Amino acid sequence: MNKELRKAVIAGNWKMNKTRPEAKTLIEELKPVAEKATCEVVICVPYTNLETAVELTKGTNIKVGAENVHFEKSGAFTGEISADMLTEIGVEYVIIGHSERRQYYGETDETVNKRTKAALAAGLKPIVCVGELLWERECNITEEVIARQIKLDLYDVSAEDVQKTIIAYEPVWAIGTGKTATSEQAEEVCGFIRETLAKLYGKEVADSVTIQYGGSMNPKNAAELLAQPDVDGGLIGGASLKAADFGVLLDAATNG
Ligand code: 13P
Repeated sequence: MNKELRKAVIAGNWKMNKTRPEAKTLIEELKPVAEKATCEVVICVPYTNLETAVELTKGTNIKVGAENVHFEKSGAFTGEISADMLTEIGVEYVIIGHSERRQYYGETDETVNKRTKAALAAGLKPIVCVGELLWERECNITEEVIARQIKLDLYDVSAEDVQKTIIAYEPVWAIGTGKTATSEQAEEVCGFIRETLAKLYGKEVADSVTIQYGGSMNPKNAAELLAQPDVDGGLIGGASLKAADFGVLLDAATNG
């Protein structure tokens, strides 16, 4: 992390976990744990928990995010939620283009780009996920894959808006597998993302963008990953579902 240039952001991605009573319990446990964190603390929760999360985190330093958003303002899009519907209830962040959306629901760079622009237009802060498959890493095309995703996902996004956007580097082979990227691998790709942003927007803008690492980040490996200069935080799956574990990550981002 380089805290002089940008804010560290630790965001939990709860995925499809926690009923409302379970969510209430976890949020109550998170409040004291997050209290002293100097990094930005975000929990991205299922749609059914958003209002509860916004309500319960009022007056705390915990911000609430959704896990997806549609790009149209309204219309015949069964099962989708618009950006205005999220901002209306006090949601501030939204994850876009998570690999699980790309893998299971046909999300493409084109729809990621549309969703990102719709989120920004509504005043949401997007957390745009990029990352290579294991096969792509083995074929030595990680940088090509990442550069393509960055260019397409941020197509037509202004320099001003990109500074409100968080990029999450999540190597697909490290998600939920217990296989973390080494801190060198994480830094290599997060640094490459910053170089790509610098080519598109200039160094000053690129230096101000928060780039997270995600993929089996946990209490044991967080400090080392967050010590890397271009790793400005984490997007956390499994470890965000236990307050004590999430607390260790917040401490690592606060003290690192
Ligand atoms: P895990 O931390 O469970 O590997 O999940 C990472 C992730 O997908 C966060 O978006």
